[in-house]
Amino acid sequence: MTALYRVPIAAHDDFEGWRDSARRLIQAGIAPDRVGWALPGAAAGDLFDAEVGPPPPTPAGTPPVRASRGYIELAQSAALHADPARFDLLYRVLWRLQSAPRLMEDRADPDVRAMDALARVVRRDIHKMRAFVRFRVIECPEVDQYVAWFEPGHHILAANAGFFVRRFAAMRWSILTPLGALHWDGEVLHQGPPANRSDVPGGDPAEDLWRTYYAAIFNPARLKVDAMVKEMPRRYWKNLPEADLIPELIAQAQAREASMIALGGEEMGRPPETLAALNDAVSACRRCAIGCNGTRAVPGEGASPAALMIVGEQPGDTEERTGRPFVGPAGQVLRDHARRAGIDLATARLTNAVRHFRHTQQGKRRLHQTPQAREIDTCRWWLDAERALVRPRLIVALGASAARGILGRTVGVQQERGKLLPLDHGAQLLITTHPSYLLRLGDTTRAEEEVRFAADLALAKRHLGE
Ligand code: URA
Repeated sequence: MTALYRVPIAAHDDFEGWRDSARRLIQAGIAPDRVGWALPGAAAGDLFDAEVGPPPPTPAGTPPVRASRGYIELAQSAALHADPARFDLLYRVLWRLQSAPRLMEDRADPDVRAMDALARVVRRDIHKMRAFVRFRVIECPEVDQYVAWFEPGHHILAANAGFFVRRFAAMRWSILTPLGALHWDGEVLHQGPPANRSDVPGGDPAEDLWRTYYAAIFNPARLKVDAMVKEMPRRYWKNLPEADLIPELIAQAQAREASMIALGGEEMGRPPETLAALNDAVSACRRCAIGCNGTRAVPGEGASPAALMIVGEQPGDTEERTGRPFVGPAGQVLRDHARRAGIDLATARLTNAVRHFRHTQQGKRRLHQTPQAREIDTCRWWLDAERALVRPRLIVALGASAARGILGRTVGVQQERGKLLPLDHGAQLLITTHPSYLLRLGDTTRAEEEVRFAADLALAKRHLGE
């Protein structure tokens, strides 16, 4: 009876061990159909009924095994594939190479193609691991420890270790996976046994920062959903802190595309013809970092046409939550002063120079941040469009950002306040302070500033002739 060889593989990614055995089998002239490879955990009966031990010793004077560099490179990757038949394939190709040294050049050969396909999948998995491992920080008394959970599709952990050691050499980290673990203590790399997802502590403040950053850099103008899903396959999403933002970001990008179509296909060419179209388009606007920060756009509100348009800086926390301008504390100050000045806000238009809420997250709180000049300038297109539709005779600009939104340049509020400045189309501009400024002042100064603010609104009222 012809002997059959059942050759144990020490570890799923033990290419060197396999190669050693394969060489000796080839040199002993053992054809592929007489060899079975016993992967770790395989049951004894999985391979052959008649089991014969490891490969025989190589007879003296046996010529060396031929294996081209192309074969070795491909085999090293293909060996990491999860396919249980991978070592059979590698051995078969190695066997054939002995009589056909140029076999690897035949890309139409089914065995070569199969090896190529396995190697390709493995390389992709290696790349995905590099891209999608997300460390969580665990604060330890002496030095922070970083832990990540990743679910590789193939046996790529050790093959990727060097990359993570080089990239995160100064950190102490562990990468836990269901196939094994890597631990780097800053000097030495250790491999560990398979882990569970629950071994990784949840909740990490750094994740919020990362999510905010991801939302800010997400570029809807470049979004190709199919390409994105290909690059970031859904099976990785569950372990990415930013992944639950993706459906919403894609939806926003699609809304933007729809609004561009509604605008006649011109992104910024022709202003919207109705306030409703304007609001839709503003909601989908991602032309600046604030527009990309995941907050909702707060549209202008009130009458149209309107003789009076009041322009603030940007929505605050309450405005963003409710989707309405001037409903938070500063809005209350404005409304009280307007009522006392006899200005009926129901007949006015309330809006902002910037439509999204620029802020920084501090724990659960969102702290206001002043929009930057370029953000105001970007949003100015929408303000101009709204102004063209509302056609106010008087614009009251609350603070420097609002004034820049109207004039397109920086002006000193204290120098320009309290006077009527001519605008195009016969309209006038009145610059005054922002009501949130009043809220920040101590009692005495605030009382003085309240008087000045009231005087500015009184001027507005006189100008309107109401
Ligand atoms: N501050 C503003 O400038 N606008 C608002 O809508 C609310 C507060």
